[in-house]
Amino acid sequence: MHTTLIAIAIVHALVKHVSAQTCALASEIAREDVKNALASAFYVDEGSTWMFDFDQLPADCTDCGNANPASTYGCPRFSVSRVRRRSRRTRGDDEDAPRRVVRASATEPEYHTLPVLDSPNIEFAEGSSPGAQRDGVLPQTCEWTLEPTEVVLIYGCTPSALAYFGITPYWYRLGGATSSLVFASLSDTFSMGENGDFGAFTRLSTEAATVSPGTFIRAPTAPWNSSFSFIMSRNRAALSLAAAVLRDRGLVVNEVGVPPPPSSDSTYTVLYRGALPASSEAWKNWVRAPPITTLRLKPKSAAAPEAIFEAAAPLIARRTVDELSLTQAYDALVSAVRERVASVPGRDAAVAATVRPQIVIDSSMTCVNFRINCGGDNRDTNYIRAPAFTLASNDDLVYAIGVRHVWTRNAYYHSVALYNRARRLAVVSIEDAVFKNSAAPWSTSDAFYVVAFARDCSRHDVPIGVPCVDVPQNGFPSASRDESIELWERPYSTYSTTIGPWWQSMILPTLVRSIPAPPPSSSNPFSALFASF
Ligand SMILES: *[C@@H]1O[C@H](CO)[C@@H](O)[C@H](O)[C@H]1NC(C)=O
Repeated sequence: MHTTLIAIAIVHALVKHVSAQTCALASEIAREDVKNALASAFYVDEGSTWMFDFDQLPADCTDCGNANPASTYGCPRFSVSRVRRRSRRTRGDDEDAPRRVVRASATEPEYHTLPVLDSPNIEFAEGSSPGAQRDGVLPQTCEWTLEPTEVVLIYGCTPSALAYFGITPYWYRLGGATSSLVFASLSDTFSMGENGDFGAFTRLSTEAATVSPGTFIRAPTAPWNSSFSFIMSRNRAALSLAAAVLRDRGLVVNEVGVPPPPSSDSTYTVLYRGALPASSEAWKNWVRAPPITTLRLKPKSAAAPEAIFEAAAPLIARRTVDELSLTQAYDALVSAVRERVASVPGRDAAVAATVRPQIVIDSSMTCVNFRINCGGDNRDTNYIRAPAFTLASNDDLVYAIGVRHVWTRNAYYHSVALYNRARRLAVVSIEDAVFKNSAAPWSTSDAFYVVAFARDCSRHDVPIGVPCVDVPQNGFPSASRDESIELWERPYSTYSTTIGPWWQSMILPTLVRSIPAPPPSSSNPFSALFASF
């Protein structure tokens, strides 16, 4: 019974709207026409789209790139046409160090990194270029340069309905004397989202509607399967020229002006993110063959080289509903769950509260200025990481307790995922639809969720209405008995701004674990607290 929970969640998470939306750029012929129109003004280099396919991840991956069965990511790729510094990715694996400097040897550059991040790994894109070597085609990479007058263009169709879809441009690596991986967003994400509670929003202009920069549109459904184009350049004249050709072809254009890189030789990328499809079949089809064309354009006539973008577009200000007014009711809920856990003979309860979020800076410019790894940050969300735990035996049971950020309107989409920490792999993901009424055994408010996790839920007496999720210890994806498991909350896009919520106004999740009770003689009222760290 418990294993079916996730499938049910995915089906019911979105509004049912089967009315097919259509996309003017669905056919390759239509996209080819656009490309031909561009060729009169630009030299055109065609790339491709790479999408991370969870099903194709090797089951024995040791760095699984934070793959999550409920969401995926991808990026536009181009041929490795220039000599590129051998990319070396350094991940912060010492999560208790707030920031650290890694220096592998005296001759290697320094990498400043934040703690372990929920960052996508776009370097997976390099090995999987289908038939690249065999056909003598240059290998492709999602990490590319952007020459002063170049334009990178993506155009095609948005996917079918998802809870969330976004396109984010990034600085990937800063060059110069010491190259640094920063993976820092260049702008707000061009995103859209939809849920059954408050409908949809979009910040991406599509054939369905044009959205002014820095604003968003609300609608009953988001513009799924809709044509769009997205361009980025460091040069205004080149960007305008590309935009004019695209508009002339009847396309709507989303533009990003890229400010001068802090150092020469910098590289860039763009990420696609999609989560929680209404139809996993339709999403799989989109992921396997995205109806998107990816071009790198160089003006044939010299574009005014001085027409540079001096600064990035302003970011949308965050606005977060203050959840702290729920604190009293929340604490009462945690106590009630704790009592329940401790009431089982031979067991005690250990309570661990989340003390800090993952990302502690609001704007990625900090990462660029100080050469810190922002880990593919996305201002549409705030990843919140709860304390790690293990499920070492069948007797272990963990209740995750938190606020339903969809209920407080601090998220359009909210999931809780358990990650295998060492392998950077999501093992299970639970969506807000499953949270509804899950705190009912203890609380009259539907503002909260309670979800239990165990190796085998059927062995535990979990109150009716509280979802219990089996966490596999074998197979793929899984976390073995001694592997550290980390719970992540992923709230996306508040209702008021459609930008992600900010953790300081939020109630962060608490874990209540069932642990063996200490022998009565050594009983210490505080031992349960200490045992949780
Ligand atoms: C998207 O629209 C195109 C043409 O308008 C249509 O042929 C295609 O089936 C649609 N795709 C989906 C997944 O609905």
